Amino acid sequence: MIRNIGRNVPCWCKSGKKYKNCHMWIDEKIKNYKKQGHIVPSRRIIKNEAQIQGIRESGKINIAVLDYIAEHMKSGITTEEIDKMVYEQTTARGGIPAPLGYEGFPKSVCTSINNQVCHGIPSEHVVLEEGDIVNVDVSTIYNGYFSDSSRMFCIGQVSRERKKLVEDVKKAVELGLEQVKPWGFMGDMGQAIHDFAKENGYSVVVDIGGHGVGLEFHEDPFVSYVTKKGTEMLLVPGMIFTIEPMINGGGEEIYVDDDNGWTVYTEDDSDSAQWEIMVLVTLDGHEVLAY
Ligand code: MF3
Ligand code: CO
Repeated sequence: MIRNIGRNVPCWCKSGKKYKNCHMWIDEKIKNYKKQGHIVPSRRIIKNEAQIQGIRESGKINIAVLDYIAEHMKSGITTEEIDKMVYEQTTARGGIPAPLGYEGFPKSVCTSINNQVCHGIPSEHVVLEEGDIVNVDVSTIYNGYFSDSSRMFCIGQVSRERKKLVEDVKKAVELGLEQVKPWGFMGDMGQAIHDFAKENGYSVVVDIGGHGVGLEFHEDPFVSYVTKKGTEMLLVPGMIFTIEPMINGGGEEIYVDDDNGWTVYTEDDSDSAQWEIMVLVTLDGHEVLAY
């Protein structure tokens, strides 16, 4: 039996186009990189146009929800109130908050303050105070498509160190983003982030990273920010993933809250910041789908 994928059969990506007019040239390039020993993406994580459009729409809701939150952040509100706003603003736009019930997560959004690295659980007992830095991590399901992005907020006047950490982590994400282009590597992005963080005296969290996203909340590959240029997965048009480094003012060590099983803290109590964007690899570079 000969298993021959014909040039004229419909493309595996379900675009409806003939293979030779769709992913054939991409597959040939991928095959070559694989031969040279590189890690290459599976078909599952390469999205077609219709899927990209669906994920783009989901991302627009994610952005709108974060824009709404940005306008309502102030000292004195509880993280429970942020959770309520995220739930209402997401559902009002026809979306579902992806965190709600995800592996048992009890709320619609993650809110992580100061020395909390990620996965802070909103609570009526947690009040935002002047001087706090807080990450609001929003994820949306819309028509079955997932989006994911997060921003940092400074509550009132924050210390110079905190403000710098927040701005530097944003800068790190943008430097990483500049590296995202087809036929580059995940490690190009990872190294750009890591180098910048180190130069500024920070540490990068190793064990929690980004991920493919779109058809599911968390897809392959795991996206690390301590990787080296020219290594890790090949970047191919149609891949969608998050850039979401967690960067600590002090050491890289972290621990998970014993009581709730979710919230991650810095071991040394230092501040931590994170920005998250969702990016698509395009034919000639990248497109940000959520920020
Ligand atoms: N939004 C987080 C991420 O960026 C994942 C949170 S999982 C949850 O990957 F269950 F805590 F919401
Ligand atoms: Co994410």
